[in-house]
Amino acid sequence: MTGQSTYLRGRLFYVQLGSPDPERLARFYGEIFGMTTQRGADGWICRGPRHCLAFASGPACTLLGAGYAVADVRVLEGLAARAAPNLVGATALEAELFAPGALALRDPDGNRIAYGIAGATTSAAGAAAPPARLQHVVVGSTDVARLVAFYTDTVGLRKSDDVRDDEGGTRACFLRSDDEHHSFAVFRTPRNRLDHHCYELPDWNGIRDWGDRLAARGVTIQWGPGRHGPGNNLFIFFHDPDGNWVELSAELEVVSPARPVGIWRHEERTLNSWGRAHLRS
Ligand SMILES: [Fe+2]
Repeated sequence: MTGQSTYLRGRLFYVQLGSPDPERLARFYGEIFGMTTQRGADGWICRGPRHCLAFASGPACTLLGAGYAVADVRVLEGLAARAAPNLVGATALEAELFAPGALALRDPDGNRIAYGIAGATTSAAGAAAPPARLQHVVVGSTDVARLVAFYTDTVGLRKSDDVRDDEGGTRACFLRSDDEHHSFAVFRTPRNRLDHHCYELPDWNGIRDWGDRLAARGVTIQWGPGRHGPGNNLFIFFHDPDGNWVELSAELEVVSPARPVGIWRHEERTLNSWGRAHLRS
């Protein structure tokens, strides 16, 4: 076990969503986030100044992959040694978005996650939309403990907060890869699936600006505004045209290295201290 001494620092660089109509989904995200939208490896790619979104044919609301940008090749060398049994060959998308040398792995639930040096994005996009930085992705799992053990011990993420039920079972776990509270999280769900992905806004005025931007496009806020307990962030959620949950967040907690892991009770006010919560199980 290498968990406590290993820390994989990185940031979420892209998510790849499956869709019955990947072009429609790409054009939705490209327009709403002011990103350049074009055909790319295995489907469609939206490029922004700091992150990318990718879309390929598949069932709606599926996570085909996610990629984290790391600082240098030494991080990748360490990960390659720790995660050797889980490594899989790189896809055309990973080769397109990352510099050579990226690693891709399958976690114990079958999620495909890649780590690499970020390739060129674009500086031309984003001018028409308020800032929104791709920040985290969350998966649902029937076996949270197994998945969290993999991401802490093998990948090298750090645990920020646990949500536990009254029997001691873990219902959610928030994991970080830099000083932001989480860049990845796992919720206990009846089946393994994508839960949501999230964009961080510069401050809470962004909730107002994005609420207005969504309203102008007829996109309804489905949940929020509210405030999460773990992470202490303000949030709103909306659905994309496929029904994916998309979160916009502000003021996510910045975590000091010495902060102990938080333990939260599995109840509505943990997930939303302002009101009703969307409990996954
Ligand atoms: Fe989230």
